[in-house]
Amino acid sequence: MVRAYAGGPVLGIETSCDETSAAVVSAVGLIGHVILSQDAHERFGGVVPEIAARAHLRRLDDVVSAALAEADVAPEDIDGVGVTAGPGLIGALLVGLNWAKGFAWAREVPFVAVHHMEAHLHANSVESPEATPPFVALLVSGGHTMLLHVPAWGDYRLLGETRDDAVGEAFDKVARTFGLGFPGGPEIERAARRGRPGVYRLPRPMLSGSDAPGDAAWFDFSFSGLKTAAALLAEDVRARKGDDGLERAVPDLAAEFQAAVLDVLVAKTRRALESTGCQRVLLGGGVARNGRLRERFESELGAVRVHVPPPRLATDNAAMIAHLARRRLLEGERAGLDLNADPAYPFPGLTPFRGTSCIPN
Ligand code: KG4
Ligand code: ZN
Repeated sequence: MVRAYAGGPVLGIETSCDETSAAVVSAVGLIGHVILSQDAHERFGGVVPEIAARAHLRRLDDVVSAALAEADVAPEDIDGVGVTAGPGLIGALLVGLNWAKGFAWAREVPFVAVHHMEAHLHANSVESPEATPPFVALLVSGGHTMLLHVPAWGDYRLLGETRDDAVGEAFDKVARTFGLGFPGGPEIERAARRGRPGVYRLPRPMLSGSDAPGDAAWFDFSFSGLKTAAALLAEDVRARKGDDGLERAVPDLAAEFQAAVLDVLVAKTRRALESTGCQRVLLGGGVARNGRLRERFESELGAVRVHVPPPRLATDNAAMIAHLARRRLLEGERAGLDLNADPAYPFPGLTPFRGTSCIPN
């Protein structure tokens, strides 16, 4: 018999991609948190699903034990469990989900499934309780790019999303064509610091002057063409100047690519703020670690309050999972042991944007 949630510490598990992570959140906040990033994927230039799943399986026990030790909480004092059920890599998700089910069943505590991107949205409020709706949110990760209006928790209005590649995916793939390592986001950011945008020119996709509010393209994104343009540019530099020439050009190429992406992200977010009248904007997902993105949001979006998660809570982590799971458990939610992982797990409460506003009427 599963007990009702008693309000005590909640264990969160995240294994959707290549971070094995466990966290403990109690009434006082985050008290234990361990993230183990798998570096076995570096030499493949991308995450290899089978390697990821096997690595989670090998390490999850130890990662949970370390998080519990840091929290100074014994397994029998855990009152509930939260786990990412999707979206993500199916093999990787199954490891975390089955671990969490086994723990919840053995200890007779309730467990809840968490949507990975909804958790990225809640990552800000793990340490900043004032990061609450209404707000506009930009979620930018390796797998997703979403612009949302959030009038209230659980009410997610989709303004725009990517039509092809996610922002993080574009960073990772372009880094590869520039001869940089994986993951590409931090590599491009580092190289861009030594370069100047404008030395080379890349397009700003979906920012055509002819778009107007109401057009489908107004809030949507597309990064696949930009990715190809960056690859062709790098090829052209290599053809004219050789490998050494390309290496010397990488800082300027990286600065231009980063500027092109950020121009689009800033412009679309500004449109969202104008359409909704929101005074608050939240960033979430791994790309939110980008320092230049943070700076530009703070300097270019006017007087609105910008919330950016601390770097450790921006990329994949179990703190955001435990935090959202505890909220759900307090609301009385439970998942059954028949719950399955789903690579396309639907975002709960997501509906199309239909002109909702932050301004009370
Ligand atoms: O949220 P996340 O950890 O995993 C997914 O849910 O996908 O995001 C990972 C993505 C990767 O594509 C990585 O290159 C990108 O976040 N990323 C960055 C930076 N740090 C990580 N992108 C741009 N600049 C960064 N500093
Ligand atoms: Zn993520």
